[in-house]
Amino acid sequence: MQARAMSERPRVWVSQPLFDDIVARLGEHFEVETTAEVTQHAPDAVNAILRRMDGALVTLNDPIGAVQIEGAPRLRAIANVGVGYNNLDVAALSAAGILASNTPDVLTETTADFGFALMMAAARRIGEAERWLREGHWQRWSFDSLLGADVHGATLGILGMGRIGQAIARRATGFGMRTLYHNRSRLPEAVEADCKASYVGFDELLARADHLLLVLPYSPQAHHLIDAAALARMQPHATLTNIARGGIVDEDALCDALERGRLGAAGLDVYEGEPRLNPRLLAQRRVVLTPHIASGSLATRRAMVALAVDNLIAALGYGPRAGDPPS
Ligand code: DGY
Repeated sequence: MQARAMSERPRVWVSQPLFDDIVARLGEHFEVETTAEVTQHAPDAVNAILRRMDGALVTLNDPIGAVQIEGAPRLRAIANVGVGYNNLDVAALSAAGILASNTPDVLTETTADFGFALMMAAARRIGEAERWLREGHWQRWSFDSLLGADVHGATLGILGMGRIGQAIARRATGFGMRTLYHNRSRLPEAVEADCKASYVGFDELLARADHLLLVLPYSPQAHHLIDAAALARMQPHATLTNIARGGIVDEDALCDALERGRLGAAGLDVYEGEPRLNPRLLAQRRVVLTPHIASGSLATRRAMVALAVDNLIAALGYGPRAGDPPS
């Protein structure tokens, strides 16, 4: 046990309230400063805090780059609560010798559940049907109202075949779907066989998918990858579901495609300027909109925070070492 006098203990910042009982573990090793509310911190406010800190636990609400870490000589670790880390400027952090970590694996299955659910909601017009019913439009059962597209037996396209993409593909087998995927690199044959998924080129994926799911990490190369030209290659009945990052889709091009009947429906959990929404999206009937909750089951969000806490403790040198008994 590395006991230290209180005054010498490293200081860490928790950028918003998370689960108190989990975050309390940081207090075993560190002086902990927690921001009491969920807020969009200004870059200079973050910088003023990080100048005093050895480490920080942050979320996707917190961009951390050169400006935020300037003049922070003690800072050694940033633990991001999330698998996506496009809020971190990893090059700037590495150049400053700061370790960055994320929370993969613990959210895979929950996020895959949600991606599948959002795709189904878009295909079967569940959001639109619910709004219609609540607005009091339902007078009598009608055989041709709110007709959607089948999911079972359809062709699923997955763009980005990491852990979450693979977990979605495994779900699709239960629905008798044919799964095609495109990824930076092709998966080993054994993994393809396990997921019952076939590798195709980007254009072929767009052209053949009845339901296209975006599960790729955001990078400058992925910015507006789904633009007007990509949408024009999709089938007019197809659905597009995005649980990755908003910047991957050109939202105006998506609205154009929906308005012109060039796309069947969309399910979006992420947005380019979130939490601000493109007003054109709000006006689309055939779009299901959710507020970035794909990993949001209670158990998974707790697991994400627990992993981020472990990551921060380990990065600052207080984690279990080889040979330590399991805790
Ligand atoms: C992630 O982990 O990247 C999600 O988008 C946030 O939960």
